[in-house]
Amino acid sequence: MEILGLDIGGSGIKGAIVNTTTGKLTTERFRIPTPQPRTTTSIAATVKEIIDHFQWTGPVGSTFPTVVIDGKCLSASNLGEEWVGVQVDDLFSQTCNGLDFHVANDADLAGIAEITIGAGKNLKGMVFMITIGTGLGTGLFYNGQLIPNFEFGHLLYNNESIEKYAADSVRKREDLSLKDWAKRFDFFLHHVIRLCSPNHFIIGGGISKKFDKFKDYLTVDVPVTCAHFKNNAGIIGAAMYAKTRPTT
Ligand code: BGC
Repeated sequence: MEILGLDIGGSGIKGAIVNTTTGKLTTERFRIPTPQPRTTTSIAATVKEIIDHFQWTGPVGSTFPTVVIDGKCLSASNLGEEWVGVQVDDLFSQTCNGLDFHVANDADLAGIAEITIGAGKNLKGMVFMITIGTGLGTGLFYNGQLIPNFEFGHLLYNNESIEKYAADSVRKREDLSLKDWAKRFDFFLHHVIRLCSPNHFIIGGGISKKFDKFKDYLTVDVPVTCAHFKNNAGIIGAAMYAKTRPTT
């Protein structure tokens, strides 16, 4: 089955049509920079631009970079307070001529792609999908089962969320070398291990393209693998989610 998958991030909103069985993108990816400020109106309008680009009329799966329960945004994260309490699936549906939207947290959906048909296939025990971009997202799986909305990027470090120290946006803003950034990320991984003894980490998000250049700086003794679908895991997982989630 082919479904349009969207990945809404702090710096880009991307979409592609996805074969939900193989995870293959059947079109080119289409990306629009995330409008600033990231308001409900500006983001919904950008989502519509992507729908129109593909002339899409079927169901749509979409990641969202906040806590999401039943399609509703429950945290401001890097978007803004205006979003808290917004029924995101309904907002997008109203903006896009009543299309059927399925929306969930970005790390959770990237993890669904990786656990089902990617780097996490057949992995048992506790697996963390970590998406590193504007924020630091964590999707938690136990024996392949998603435990939604685990927000380890908001562990406190220096009195603020640790994503303000170790996300990729911080590397760019502070012009850190990959090695200096990797030391910060390594610190984060050690912290997660101390808290919950995971069996495996899978790394996605924009920085996954550079995985081979920073992996040797990581000192944790838990296996760390690059996402099979790299930065497309969100788009693919979103499409897979829209396929499996029953319409209500
Ligand atoms: C949000 C998470 C999200 C992550 C990556 C964080 O700021 O709180 O929900 O998964 O950014 O986008």
